[in-house]
Order: sequence, then C-alpha cells, then structure tokens
Amino acid sequence: MRLKLEGFANGGYATGIINGKIVFVKNALPGETVEIELVQEKKSFMKAVTTKILEPSEYRVEPKCPYYLTCGGCNLQHAKYEYQLKLKQEIFLTTLKKLGKIKVNEIPKIEPSKKQWNYRRRIDFKCKNGKWGFYKKSTNQFTPINECKIADEKINEFISINRCFRNKRVQVDDYNNINTDEMMLNLGLEKPLFYEKDVFTQINREINLKIMRDLFNEVLCLELSNILELFCGIGNFTIPLATKGYKIYAVERDISAISSLKRNINNFGLKNISVIRRNLFEPFKIKGGFDLLILDPPREGAKEVVRWLLKKSIKNIIYISCDLATLSRDLNIIKDKYTIEKIKLYDMFPQTHHVESMAVLKLNKD
Ligand SMILES: C[S@@+](CC[C@H](N)C(=O)[O-])C[C@H]1O[C@@H](n2cnc3c(N)ncnc32)[C@H](O)[C@@H]1O
Repeated sequence: MRLKLEGFANGGYATGIINGKIVFVKNALPGETVEIELVQEKKSFMKAVTTKILEPSEYRVEPKCPYYLTCGGCNLQHAKYEYQLKLKQEIFLTTLKKLGKIKVNEIPKIEPSKKQWNYRRRIDFKCKNGKWGFYKKSTNQFTPINECKIADEKINEFISINRCFRNKRVQVDDYNNINTDEMMLNLGLEKPLFYEKDVFTQINREINLKIMRDLFNEVLCLELSNILELFCGIGNFTIPLATKGYKIYAVERDISAISSLKRNINNFGLKNISVIRRNLFEPFKIKGGFDLLILDPPREGAKEVVRWLLKKSIKNIIYISCDLATLSRDLNIIKDKYTIEKIKLYDMFPQTHHVESMAVLKLNKD
C-alpha cells in the first residue's frame, strides 16, 4: 500500500492517514511517500512498517548500524542528526499540547550531543548460545550483534573479547572501569562520586554535565534555604549542590543508590544533606517547608509527587524528565497552580526518539 507521510509522532513514527484513520509508520520520515505493510489495526489508529521508500525525504541518511532493522533500538538512525533534533523539538511541543493541554509559545532550545555515536555508558545485553545481542523492540526475537554503534567503545571492546553466559548489563565508568563492583563518576569536583554496580547513572556524560550546568544556573538565581530533591539517585545533583552550601533533603527508593549516596556524603564531609528513603510511586509524607523542589523521575514520571504538590505551596520546581509523555501528563495535573517559565531539551539519546528535558516552574501568585 502506498502512503504519503505528513507528520511525526512520539515513539519515532512518521504519520499518514488512510480512510480518515491515523497510521503510525516505522522507519519513515515526514514528507516521504512509502510503501507500507500494516501490522496492527485498532479502532482509532493503525501501525505499519515501511517496505519500500518511493520518494525519500531530503533529510534521510543511510543507517550506519547493520542491525538497524533487526534491533530497532535506534529508531531515528535514518534521519540526519540536525533533523533528529528538529523532530524532537516538534514532538515535544505536540505531546505537551496533546497530553498536557499546555501550549508553549516558543520552540524550546535543544542541546545537541557532541557524541552522536558511542555515547552510552551502560547497555543491557541479551545472551543466546554465547552470543551478545538484543531483542528486537517489543518482541523476544533475538538479534546477535558484534558491536553496538551507540555503546561506549570500551563496552564494544568488552563484548568483542568476552563470551557471554547470561543476559548482562555492561557498564563503563568515567575512569574506564568496566563492570567493577565500585564505579566512579567524574563531575569535575575535587574528587569523584562512587556508585555501586547496577545503580542508576545518566548514560551520556557530556549531556549530564550540561544539565548540571543549567541546573546550577537556575538554582543560583533563586533565594533558597531548603531544597527538596526527589529521585536523587547516588547524588549526581545532590553532592555538587550541597558543596555550594545548600541544605538538601534527598529522597530515593533504591537501597544501593542510597548507600552510594551516603558514602559520597561522607567522602565529601557534607553535613547539609538529609537522606530520606521513600517509594515516591505511592502516597508519601515528607515533613518540612521547601523553597525549591528538584525532581528527576524515571520514565514512569511522578504522578504521585505532583498530586502531593497540589496540597503544598513550594514556590519553585525544576522537573528533569526523560519521558515527554509522562512529563506532559504530570504538568497537566499542576498546570493551574504553576506556570512554566522555561523549558530546555537535551539530546541525551542520539539516534533514538527519546528526549531529555528540564522544565522550570513557578507557583502562581494567588
Ligand atoms: C532518572 S533517575 C535520576 C537519578 C539522579 N537524579 C541522577 O541524575 O543520577 C531516577 C531515580 O529514581 C529512583 N526511583 C525509581 N523509582 C522510584 C520510586 N518509586 N521512588 C523513589 N525513587 C525511585 C531510581 O532509583 C533512580 O535513582
């Protein structure tokens, strides 16, 4: 079936219309005419894969990865990098409008990643018959691989010389340690932060530092005494902020992340961080008044946190997000109480549709 594609949707799909119904098409770009094969039909939409490109977009490039079609993880590889950034800005605005019912007047700036390949410091590999690989997206079809184009070079070196025995996470730290029990994060402070293997850390070092720079610039503009930081992990933001003297209440659920954080607090000799263990996906209580809330939830977002916020009067919020659908949902819940002052995007995940963002919000006056 032949289809002219007009738009682009969250998830990395180009979109077209058949008989009044929207079709989400994989491996295609807006403006292209393609042959498609329908793979799913629902009441309000259809899903399809591209079988032939009849009229390619001027922004199309040859995917660099030989596993592009069988792996499916890097679903924007067929677009020029600058165009990937433009598509991310567009889907950000449309998702915020559709799911968040929020209209932003200006197109948010996006910080590109200098490393468009080999930027990932952590990869979860599947293993079959001694071969490293991935499951094709949303299936359990195994694709064996020799290298991953977005993995750090050290990770590729590791899988080229080591046989796999089971599914395995391979991670490299800022000092080229691979899968050691203790890993180190270099944030440009007087010493590194420690973290235990398998604990969350941001996967793109350069972008992490840029987010931190922007976060600092925002925090410096505010008059603060107490900061509440939710989903704080090992202290990626907490430790640098606390070294500047801010009093921080740092909240996290993961025990290993908390033990790494406590070790970092001790190493830096900090007395101004209170560590609180909470599951923030369930109703929770945290005592005290705060001038600023920083939150950086996982992909699931922070629905319970924004509900809690409706009962509080925290003046400033900085919401860092890796999922624009849950961010839009959460901002929708507080949109009558808070005004979005700034939004900036970061290309933490080149070659994929994922977008990292930072939204700065202010409590409305009345
Ligand atoms: C996106 S990471 C951010 C961590 C940290 N801000 C950083 O930059 O490294 C999200 C964090 O939320 C934590 N987390 C996940 N689910 C949680 C929950 N239900 N309650 C509290 N923390 C949770 C994870 O352990 C992880 O450390």
